[in-house]
Amino acid sequence: MTTYHFPPNFLWGAATASYQIEGAWNADGKGESIWDRFCHTPGKIEDGSNGDVACDHYHRYGDDIALMSSLGLQAYRFSVSWPRVLPSGRGKVNPAGLDFYDSLVDRLLEANILPFLTLYHWDLPQALHETGDWMNRDQCAAFADYAALMVKRLGDRVKYWATFNEPASMFYLGYMNGIHAPGNQDPLGAPQVAHHLMVAHGKAIQAMRAIEPDLQVGIVLDQWSIEPASENPADIAAAEQAWGERTMFLDVLFKGHYPPQLYDYLGDNLPKIQSGDMALISQKLDFFGLNTYSRNVISAQDGYIKPVPGSEYTEMDWEVCAPAMRRLLNRLNREYRLPPIYITENGAAFKDVVSPDSKIHDERRLDYLRQHFIQTRLAMQDGVDVRGYFVWSLLDNFEWSFGYTRRFGIVHIDFNTQHRTIKDSGEWYSRVIACNAVSSDDGQESR
Ligand code: FCB
Repeated sequence: MTTYHFPPNFLWGAATASYQIEGAWNADGKGESIWDRFCHTPGKIEDGSNGDVACDHYHRYGDDIALMSSLGLQAYRFSVSWPRVLPSGRGKVNPAGLDFYDSLVDRLLEANILPFLTLYHWDLPQALHETGDWMNRDQCAAFADYAALMVKRLGDRVKYWATFNEPASMFYLGYMNGIHAPGNQDPLGAPQVAHHLMVAHGKAIQAMRAIEPDLQVGIVLDQWSIEPASENPADIAAAEQAWGERTMFLDVLFKGHYPPQLYDYLGDNLPKIQSGDMALISQKLDFFGLNTYSRNVISAQDGYIKPVPGSEYTEMDWEVCAPAMRRLLNRLNREYRLPPIYITENGAAFKDVVSPDSKIHDERRLDYLRQHFIQTRLAMQDGVDVRGYFVWSLLDNFEWSFGYTRRFGIVHIDFNTQHRTIKDSGEWYSRVIACNAVSSDDGQESR
């Protein structure tokens, strides 16, 4: 058995997102979001469900913070629902919405848990959708105003601010193939949406820093390792092409231009870029949030290889391949001048069973996390500056188009009763946090 120790200030946390946990979709003056509308449209969600109630976190946040304390979490990544604080996206503020996040933050701080806030985890106010969604460049200013509003209210207590969560997921799922809200299948419009998200990011960073220059501001991107199926040059070239298409946000944020492969991919369908946009977008950030779960394997002949023979897959049909995370971190570190990195999401959906002893013995999730913690530690030894780790997710929750059919939590939720039970993976994680170390072997830790 090998024990991997983490540096003393390494930050251990867990993550959630507003629409996936809060519920209270129309309570206390909250406006409608594109996710409310999308889920209320029949046929969009696998189990016909929605986030109307979800984990009822809006009403149970006190209990959830108590759970975080009992796990020993040092940080909590959550997102703000834009329409909860600005029901129409701009203009009139909803005081009850602001009060909710205010008191969430106060309670976290009382519990000695660092709040790590994301401004946009996909729940655009429906009113802004109706004025052109992200196709309309005016939304960038609206987003910067929203960011400023939140910093004015919470900037004295919240130090870590991310603008967007996973613009690439929005681009592909929300605007290209329509699996996510707002359900657009618009390959011609999607590149413009992507560019506006980046402009909005840049404007928000400026607005936030103008109010509180000492904040730590950043963005959260999803990136998986993209690997060739063999050492054959054709496979390597195919994987490189796919990497270039998938790194548009990394490139524009950290190199100041879109990758050349993206131009092959988009052809004539390029976004309109105004002068000054690239400098605005590629402003220096204080941190980079990385969400990573799996890898893609590519061959020249067959494209994406799935399943990879001999590999284990999660309930999302995502390959479990922890060493790819180390390779990814090293590649990002080599190719981009990144600020300090936080793993802002990593975790796994597996089928959970409540045992007769009322516990959830989720060895596979525990093992997934163990392997990924170890590979991250090894990447740090290789020289990658990783400062913290947020497990996705604190709670089982509403997994977008999959509804409640996929469970990622280290805390189990019975959605009929809202009863919360810490899974074995959660108990194990709390020991990792307490020791600031992870061991390679099941030994006593997983029992
Ligand atoms: C990420 C999302 C997060 C969650 C996980 C499983 O892409 O940011 O909300 O759905 O995947």
